[in-house]
Amino acid sequence: MALYSEKVMDHFRNPRNVGKLDDADGIGEVGNARCGDIMKMYIKVTDGIITDVKFNTFGCGSAIASSSMATELIKGKPISEALSLTNKAVVEALDGLPAHKLHCSVLAEQAIRAAIKDYYDKNGIEYDKSMFPEDDDVHDHGETEE
Ligand code: FES
Repeated sequence: MALYSEKVMDHFRNPRNVGKLDDADGIGEVGNARCGDIMKMYIKVTDGIITDVKFNTFGCGSAIASSSMATELIKGKPISEALSLTNKAVVEALDGLPAHKLHCSVLAEQAIRAAIKDYYDKNGIEYDKSMFPEDDDVHDHGETEE
């Protein structure tokens, strides 16, 4: 079996929603301290719906494929749904990732959450702080997620 699924290769070669949103309502940037990869996610929100999303990933192919798939999964969806998107769901949508590449999908989950938190903060929207427990070490992931 090939190391990477066709879906991973497709999203790596033709990533969806690449770029930046100049009028983003929320921006989330996360990185993995171990590999040094960085992912930035931009969201546009209207009436609680993520109407547009773009990303920039300086990282490996799995990180690019994960961000691409993650943007597809949350575009047009309510914030609540985007918040509950797990890296596992991203991996499943990609038809799997090799075990040592699972942490790349974690970046996508975290980048989306960071963008939503930024949106909440910028708009003075109240939220339960425990929803974003990873906030303090957002730039230091990778030790526990594999
Ligand atoms: Fe760093 Fe994939 S190796 S995110």
